[in-house]
Amino acid sequence: MKSQISSRMAHHFHLIRQATLRLVDPLQTEDFTIQASENVSPTKWHLAHTTWFFETFVLTKYLSYYRVFKSNYDYLFNSYYESVGPFHSRENRGLLTRPTVEEIYSYRSYVDHHMMILLGSNHEEIKDIEALVEIGLNHEQQHQELILTDIKFNFYQNPLLPVYKETIDRTPHAPATDEMIPFRGGLVEIGTSDSTRFSFDNERPRHKVWLEPFKLAAHPVTNKEYIAFIEDGGYENPSYWLSDGWATVKRESWRAPLYWREQWGKWMIYTLSGEQPLKLEEPVCHVSFYEADAFARWKGKRLPTEAEWEHAAEPVKVEGNFADHGYAHPRCHSSENEQLKKIYGDVWEWTQTPYTPYPRSKPLDGALGEYNAKFMCNQMVLRGGSCATPLSHIRPTYRNFFQPETRWQFSGLRLAEDAE
Ligand code: AVJ
Ligand code: FE
Repeated sequence: MKSQISSRMAHHFHLIRQATLRLVDPLQTEDFTIQASENVSPTKWHLAHTTWFFETFVLTKYLSYYRVFKSNYDYLFNSYYESVGPFHSRENRGLLTRPTVEEIYSYRSYVDHHMMILLGSNHEEIKDIEALVEIGLNHEQQHQELILTDIKFNFYQNPLLPVYKETIDRTPHAPATDEMIPFRGGLVEIGTSDSTRFSFDNERPRHKVWLEPFKLAAHPVTNKEYIAFIEDGGYENPSYWLSDGWATVKRESWRAPLYWREQWGKWMIYTLSGEQPLKLEEPVCHVSFYEADAFARWKGKRLPTEAEWEHAAEPVKVEGNFADHGYAHPRCHSSENEQLKKIYGDVWEWTQTPYTPYPRSKPLDGALGEYNAKFMCNQMVLRGGSCATPLSHIRPTYRNFFQPETRWQFSGLRLAEDAE
């Protein structure tokens, strides 16, 4: 029985680790080291850091004879765990030509090999090990998304606007509508206490929230709607903007989402398949919280709270345009016109909710208590997953979070408003 469970885990481990390597398959060796800003990391670093996670939190603890691959990797590939020890500064991750890409692939094989031994063994503490491996695999999936978003940002620095992978979208499209779906609100519950399914500590526990009646848009905001905001002087009128947002617009000279470029009166957009003419019916993507919030105010609406979002999304099946699809770009509305069908996937949706702990929540014990809890300040919650997120990573209660000025993630928005 024990070994059966763990062999299922071993299989799962193998698939997710392999999926990471498939993502970087289109890259050449030169692509692995660049770090174009403090926010992004080199691909090479992601490959090593996710490996370090299993080495540090699983192997050194549970495989008695395990010896770390290289003792100095701890310093390079610890991201931010103060209780594990000192670490290399984030903004200098792109200065490391060594260890080489080849050495990091060897590091991955070495750790994977020992993980397979551990997961195949009849270890007494197999339950604890499996719980940690589950966190490690969800961590790996978070970094799969970061690998894609960071490759896109890093490639964009190159005036030749390189192609990561050629993809074509063959799904039938229908124009998005501006339909708003009403919800009665009342006393509802969000978050999870389900112990049969993985969730991060920041999604727990399930708790009550009071919602006034509200409406939520059936579709995310499209490029077409966003262009109307730009053409109406959205980026020139401080009255739509939060003070910090307006300061950012001026400081960064923003006049459109990230990856947009105007060429002879037409908008072009950089995608992982290179630069392309902007499609009007696609969900707008690569906007900051500030832009999402300003757009909503310009529209006479607002962003949803995370509780409104989760309440609306909970009964909806998790499906849509995720990383598994391979397109790695948001898609136009699909022709099946079910309400809220597109609440998952395509773009992460900014909410108006600051990222703070849920009532009675408790971070994990030990070093992994640093995983989420210490970032619960000055960031906003995003919901729903994107075209760069693995489908199996997302559930209705999933909370993503980023600083309000960041826009290199696949982030868009869905409008909300108060109802009678
Ligand atoms: C949840 C995406 C904000 O990017 O730091 C990766 C994910 N946590 N390693 C981040 C994460 C630890 C996290 N985000
Ligand atoms: Fe990490």
